[in-house]
Amino acid sequence: MSARRGGSARSTSAPTRSRQHNKRGAEFGWVECRTADIASPPHGDAEFDAVFAVQVLEYITDLDAALRQIHRMLRPGGGLVIVATDWSSAVWHS
Ligand SMILES: C[S@@+](CC[C@H](N)C(=O)[O-])C[C@H]1O[C@@H](n2cnc3c(N)ncnc32)[C@H](O)[C@@H]1O
Repeated sequence: MSARRGGSARSTSAPTRSRQHNKRGAEFGWVECRTADIASPPHGDAEFDAVFAVQVLEYITDLDAALRQIHRMLRPGGGLVIVATDWSSAVWHS
């Protein structure tokens, strides 16, 4: 997920999840959903103020390439939030 000034956001997901992704995106009018591989995202240089990668980067084979793309898409001084879960160490309380 990435955010631009003015309160809009874009969500980019891998092609294998496109149907579910687009369905979720339709629930939020201010979120534009696209399907792409993080290795070749359809976004320009310095296009975003912030990028949020929630439980995505731990599934990426070429992490360096993904981080290079995120860096390219962020404006200078932009923010990156990464949430990655180590499921082998997760403890559940229910
Ligand atoms: C566990 S899901 C997390 C989905 C969502 N971020 C959330 O927190 O509910 C992992 C996500 O990583 C995305 N993903 C995996 N490999 C990807 C890639 N190469 N490029 C873009 N997205 C990828 C998948 O499309 C999937 O939506």
